[in-house]
Amino acid sequence: MIFLGIETSCDETAVAIYDGDRSSGRGKLLAEQVASQIETHARFGGVVPEVASREHLTALPPMIESIMQETGLTFSQIDQIAITAGPGLMGALLVGTSYARALGMVHNIPVMPIHHMEGHLLAPGIDNLLPTFPFITLLVSGGHTMLVRVDGIGSYSIVGQTLDDAAGECFDKSARLLGLPYPGGPEIAHLAKGGDAKRFKLPRPMLNTDNLHFSFSGLKTAVMYAVKNAGGVESFDAQALSDMAAAIEAAICEVLVKKSIRACLKEDAPRLVIAGGVAANQSLRQMLFDMAGKKQIEVHLPDPKHCTDNAAMIAYAGFQRACADQNIPDDWDAQPRWPLA
Ligand code: KG4
Ligand code: ZN
Repeated sequence: MIFLGIETSCDETAVAIYDGDRSSGRGKLLAEQVASQIETHARFGGVVPEVASREHLTALPPMIESIMQETGLTFSQIDQIAITAGPGLMGALLVGTSYARALGMVHNIPVMPIHHMEGHLLAPGIDNLLPTFPFITLLVSGGHTMLVRVDGIGSYSIVGQTLDDAAGECFDKSARLLGLPYPGGPEIAHLAKGGDAKRFKLPRPMLNTDNLHFSFSGLKTAVMYAVKNAGGVESFDAQALSDMAAAIEAAICEVLVKKSIRACLKEDAPRLVIAGGVAANQSLRQMLFDMAGKKQIEVHLPDPKHCTDNAAMIAYAGFQRACADQNIPDDWDAQPRWPLA
């Protein structure tokens, strides 16, 4: 079965084609393209929804044409279109879903609405095999931080989540306090490489609470005070900037890793996936391998390029839904707020 995946929920326009074998549940990514709008939004310090919609509208049609040419496929060979229907920015979602529906209508191809976070949480399956069910996924992106118990395709229960800011948001807001451009996660990760994480003391919010929830807004405030107490960011030399970046990265990663391990133990599901943009962070990946290994927890990580927004994960989620005989709903629409469970 050949799936055309389309993703336009935020600031990346992405298309992908996945060829899967329904009897084995395995397949191959034939091609993928991602057009990032980061440079357009960077000067505003974050994503501007109206600008994002317009950019998707310009980028999407030629990208579809280009990926069809790249694979040499015709629309008659596409079995299904998988489109991100939410959550995300309403205008951005509407561009993708309207385009997918029009394509489907013209070429007589069924269109399957996919939850963006379902795409992220199944992403390890694009490049490797999915872990055996049940497993725990730590979903960490710019808008979400949650621990999800996965019992099967479409069977997701949230066992922990952030009470305020998402981890990616904490990276982005802390980066802004350091005068770094958007998106802040990769900037902080880059600076942190030469830094001493112990020079500045930052809290580990909710690390010792008896639940699987997170809270990151206090950490961002702690960064603000730490910078202020050290004389303000203007007074920072390159080393101080690196040390602060390392302290921020260490604080966020330690909480994420320890709570994820606790979730695996509590849920008796010793397999852990991390997904979403923050999962591209190398320190997080390393810390996870080190700490989870000691507890005999298997760690499954998507390729870094499939951690940030992409359409391969949407095409793959569509394929997995088809394998699990999950029918396309008769009536669906773009949903900017769409609970995963
Ligand atoms: O999943 P994603 O691409 O988009 C959303 O659905 O939100 O995640 C974007 C988030 C941003 O907050 C960005 O700063 C963060 O992921 N991010 C990172 C890294 N790469 C992206 N955070 C830390 N380290 C990275 N290497
Ligand atoms: Zn995402």
